[in-house]
Amino acid sequence: MVDPLEADEIASELDTITFGRHVITYDTIGSTNSEAAALAAQGAEEGTLVLAETQTEGRGRLSRPWYSPPFVNLYFSVILRPRIPPSQASMLTLTAGVALAEAIRQQTDLPAGLKWPNDVLIRSKKIGGILADLTADRLKIKHLILGIGLNVNLEAGLLPSEISETASSLMIEFGRAVSRLEMLKTVVNQLERWYTLFLNRGPGPIIEKYSGLSNTIGRKIRVTYQDRMLEGEAVGLAENGGLVVRGRDGITSTVLAGDVVHLR
Ligand code: BTN
Repeated sequence: MVDPLEADEIASELDTITFGRHVITYDTIGSTNSEAAALAAQGAEEGTLVLAETQTEGRGRLSRPWYSPPFVNLYFSVILRPRIPPSQASMLTLTAGVALAEAIRQQTDLPAGLKWPNDVLIRSKKIGGILADLTADRLKIKHLILGIGLNVNLEAGLLPSEISETASSLMIEFGRAVSRLEMLKTVVNQLERWYTLFLNRGPGPIIEKYSGLSNTIGRKIRVTYQDRMLEGEAVGLAENGGLVVRGRDGITSTVLAGDVVHLR
């Protein structure tokens, strides 16, 4: 049964001050991140939520497409205007990861974990991802669009073959349907909570929480970045959100953006 998400239902009963107080919904859009960026450029306020039932050009990290079938999942973006240096922006991807994992745990008790930097996993399968699009000059962030895709009630048979082995949904893992509306509200509440904590207290609390939820830290990994490849152990997170890796030669490097494979 098709049960569309309505803007007034989303905005009611949130525990937030700014997040989700202004909601714009679309049946179909290219990408909620692109739409939110256009609205932000026109002056839309912080916390504005842009949501679509389906995306025709949903984007993942590293220019990958994001599979966005209608009415079963969540695709939304939040406009942020944080007063932090652009060099700290990667921390917001980690902040959103913590919020997503916490919301899933709160709503379903499923053991949601995080693969650095932006994947949400349950039992090693990807069920959600975060895409942060930054608009900044050298010293100041103009806006940052935090885009979230979460597979909620997607049936296993509907997963495209190229991701059928590696992706899943809350329904597949939980064994029954999950309310998209309740899930969305819980994520939005958690997002504002962790975002505010980050702005008030800096990266420490997020790094601590993310490390506890991380499936990457403590693992042997291979990370590809800037046409380079590094194998070693993920030993922690840096204050700018980068992944600290101890290479096989014992030398420690911090990778700010890269693609990780968990080796074992
Ligand atoms: C990833 O894991 O690579 C990130 C996926 C992010 C997908 C979401 S869906 C809503 C928002 N709009 C987009 O085009 N992408 C993000």
